[in-house]
Amino acid sequence: MKSGFLMIFLSLWILEGLSLTGAGPVQNVHLEPSNSSIKNPCFEYSSVKPLLDRLLQLNMEVIGKSNTLAESLKALQSMLSIAETEKKIKEVPANKKGEEIKTTDDLIREIVEQAKEPNTNFENESSNEPNSTPLDLEIQTESVELSESNVILPSSCRRDLANDTYQIELRGMKPFYVFCGSAEGNDSGWMVIQRRFDGSENFHRYWEEYVDGFGDIKGEFFIGLEKLHIMTTDKQHELHIKLGMFNGSTAYAHYDHFVIGSKDDFYRLENIGQYNGTAGDSLEQHLSRKFSTHDYNNDSLGNRCPADESGGWWYFGCGQSQLNGKFYKDGQSKKSNGILWGTFQDYKWRTSLTTVEMLIRPISS
Ligand SMILES: *[C@@H]1O[C@H](CO)[C@@H](O)[C@H](O)[C@H]1NC(C)=O
Ligand SMILES: *[C@@H]1O[C@H](CO)[C@@H](O)[C@H](O)[C@H]1NC(C)=O
Ligand SMILES: *[C@@H]1O[C@H](CO)[C@@H](O)[C@H](O)[C@H]1NC(C)=O
Ligand SMILES: *[C@@H]1O[C@H](CO)[C@@H](O)[C@H](O)[C@H]1NC(C)=O
Ligand SMILES: *[C@@H]1O[C@H](CO)[C@@H](O)[C@H](O)[C@H]1NC(C)=O
Ligand SMILES: *[C@@H]1O[C@H](CO)[C@@H](O)[C@H](O)[C@H]1NC(C)=O
Ligand SMILES: *[C@@H]1O[C@H](CO)[C@@H](O)[C@H](O)[C@H]1NC(C)=O
Repeated sequence: MKSGFLMIFLSLWILEGLSLTGAGPVQNVHLEPSNSSIKNPCFEYSSVKPLLDRLLQLNMEVIGKSNTLAESLKALQSMLSIAETEKKIKEVPANKKGEEIKTTDDLIREIVEQAKEPNTNFENESSNEPNSTPLDLEIQTESVELSESNVILPSSCRRDLANDTYQIELRGMKPFYVFCGSAEGNDSGWMVIQRRFDGSENFHRYWEEYVDGFGDIKGEFFIGLEKLHIMTTDKQHELHIKLGMFNGSTAYAHYDHFVIGSKDDFYRLENIGQYNGTAGDSLEQHLSRKFSTHDYNNDSLGNRCPADESGGWWYFGCGQSQLNGKFYKDGQSKKSNGILWGTFQDYKWRTSLTTVEMLIRPISS
């Protein structure tokens, strides 16, 4: 589909480019000797350059999926540039001119041929993946975008990536690094959006810090509300929360449709979808609540929670959960400002969880 589209663009532009140099209709690409070819005997780089520039631009803007064509065009540009320089240096004998035209002509046809082939590199890469399904492929194709530097970056964690940091790119944002991890077992393709485990990071932060994100993606961190908003509104995401207690007990909560509202809507918890898991549902009460921090309290019931070092959260009269709460190494707190998930800790608010990982993944089925 895409490459067919590209073909039409290419053909149109090449046609236009040829008629500019007086070569006539596309069947006459071989350039019959004519009055115009005498006047303008060959494709001069300077006359083709605007066309090539436009093609390059089109490839980046319209196609945006593969850099193969861009590279070919760049290569062609430099070849033509060199050819022109050489031509200037030594006068080309009249009988050789036809040949030279043909060469340029062939080069352009080669590019068009290449454009016909559907991104062979990309397909090879994908078909080598162990668990690649047509659906996976589709998602990955969708998520691939061209950055300014012409590097192809995904917009979410790919399912073939192991536990590590990877660069991604979202619309309207510079590329940034994320940690791609696992939810349960080797279940992959999950992006870690928040992590707690050693208390090394301070989560008692200002509104703007929660908007932008903070911490070390290999350690403790929060990814940032603006990124969450973009990701969860561009594609449907599921949310997976892993929780752990001081004594080693673990549990999880899974939600199948996680959506964060916009800045204008105070990054409201717009949707969580269906709950599933072992930890109990301590997020339902926070559904459709605005995000609050100690300097920006939007809890409609008003509360001291964010001011009490409980971190930013979608508070509603405090509520049943606060995973950005204060870290207590021994899992015990004097106030109820620790890391809390009520249903998992039997509403014992002086217990503070010691490990948390929140992960999201685009829904694929
Ligand atoms: C080239 O020839 C065509 C007719 O064959 C004529 O219409 C056109 O004006 C000529 N162009 C030049 C630049 O002489
Ligand atoms: C794609 O894979 C085939 C077979 O593995 C190989 O012959 C071909 O060169 C590959 N193409 C590219 C563009 O990597
Ligand atoms: C990633 O790391 C987690 C935790 O260490 C582990 O449970 C999971 O199996 C790992 N996944 C892969 C694909 O290696
Ligand atoms: C997870 O992946 C690791 C490394 O890829 C492998 O050693 C381990 O057996 C896998 N575990 C499961 C449960 O599949
Ligand atoms: C950890 O503590 C909780 C709550 O006190 C208890 O329900 C659970 O059984 C304990 N787990 C272990 C492994 O001791
Ligand atoms: C909950 O998750 C388990 C494990 O993934 C799955 O087997 C079960 O069908 C899910 N239940 C619901 C109601 O989605
Ligand atoms: C959100 O909090 C800010 C700062 O406290 C306040 O100015 C604003 O009115 C609040 N908005 C809502 C809708 O509660």
